Amino acid sequence: MAKMTGIRLAKRLDEVGFSDIVQIRNKVMELRAEGVAVHSLHGGEPFFETPGDIKYAAIQALVENQTHYAPSSGVLPLRKALVEKLARKNRLHVTTDEVIATVGGSQALYGAFQSVLDPGDDALVFSPYWTPIADLITGAQARPLRVPSSTARRNGIRNTLEQFSTPQTRAIYYNTPQNPSGLVFTRAEAEDVAAFAIERDLVVIADEAYEDLVYDGEHVSIASLPGMLERTITCFTFSKTYAMTGWRAGYAVAQEPFMTALRKIVLYSTNGVATPMQYAMIHALTTPESKIASIREEYRKRRDLLVAGLNEVGLECELPAGAFYAFPNVEKLHKNSRTAAQILLEKAHIATIPGSVFGAQGEGHLRFGYAITLKEIEDCVDALRRFFA
Ligand SMILES: Cc1ncc(COP(=O)(O)O)c(C=O)c1O
Repeated sequence: MAKMTGIRLAKRLDEVGFSDIVQIRNKVMELRAEGVAVHSLHGGEPFFETPGDIKYAAIQALVENQTHYAPSSGVLPLRKALVEKLARKNRLHVTTDEVIATVGGSQALYGAFQSVLDPGDDALVFSPYWTPIADLITGAQARPLRVPSSTARRNGIRNTLEQFSTPQTRAIYYNTPQNPSGLVFTRAEAEDVAAFAIERDLVVIADEAYEDLVYDGEHVSIASLPGMLERTITCFTFSKTYAMTGWRAGYAVAQEPFMTALRKIVLYSTNGVATPMQYAMIHALTTPESKIASIREEYRKRRDLLVAGLNEVGLECELPAGAFYAFPNVEKLHKNSRTAAQILLEKAHIATIPGSVFGAQGEGHLRFGYAITLKEIEDCVDALRRFFA
């Protein structure tokens, strides 16, 4: 019999899940340990290494003893560089008090949901969505209301948001380009979301992790639309654009009262971003747009190659407009995406992520991450051809 004890977990964590994706990673590692060559399309990491000049900026900061406590919201030169970038690239005109450095985009999102949601509140989430979002919302003791993106695009964004919202709705999570579908909302769609947020007096939590990876259309920062800056918390990361996933570098942009809340959350969780990393972030922000554009072209090649291969074997896939994921319908393999992923992994040694992990609206699909080398994509497409032959 279990011993009676008063030790228990805080209840607010009961409903918070722990990444399903880890299980797939473990299975891949198991197969590799058995000597099986696995095609790794389950990840979300850029195919290139962090550029050398960014690494040297961190080394230089270390050598120059930038190793002390920094202001918890970020050193002023970083906040100035962010303000300049936001005005130039995102049409967000803010002050150095309206940006905060965070430990990855993840801490920005965590802070955003914690700042806005009370227990019992609801948050609208376009679905499929990046898995941790539902956990960040339930971790704030609030409820995610999943809004099917495809229905919203087909039937009208405002009608659909209206249909799924409740009197307790306080926020909309708005991710463009989207993980896992690669969807990029148009300017007109962003305007619809904005109009709904204003009409209902909602806060928008914008996630622009893939802002630099738009192949078709344009990236619109929703906070740049009239009346939106004051009701939007925009979350950014250095992970994807600069291949800095392991550096844990990100930032958030918001006006008051949100910035006070974000400052408290950052202060009491990490007391800021590691000081040498902040100098690497400043340096990363000097990357010429032409270099970012050439990286984007590299991703476009990968997208075109993979999506053509998927369609060739009958896994129907629309050309994703952004991010670095393809999200084909795989019902031909199996209706249950977990089973489909398992079949593909065991029989063709291709690792993907089941669509249902990204919400019920992802069922029947698999996420293929194409932020890998062209050779790896070619090999994966060959493996698909052999499997479906
Ligand atoms: C949609 C989305 N938002 C935010 C992030 C956060 O990235 P990070 O915490 O590495 O900055 C990711 C990472 O995969 C993502 O896919």
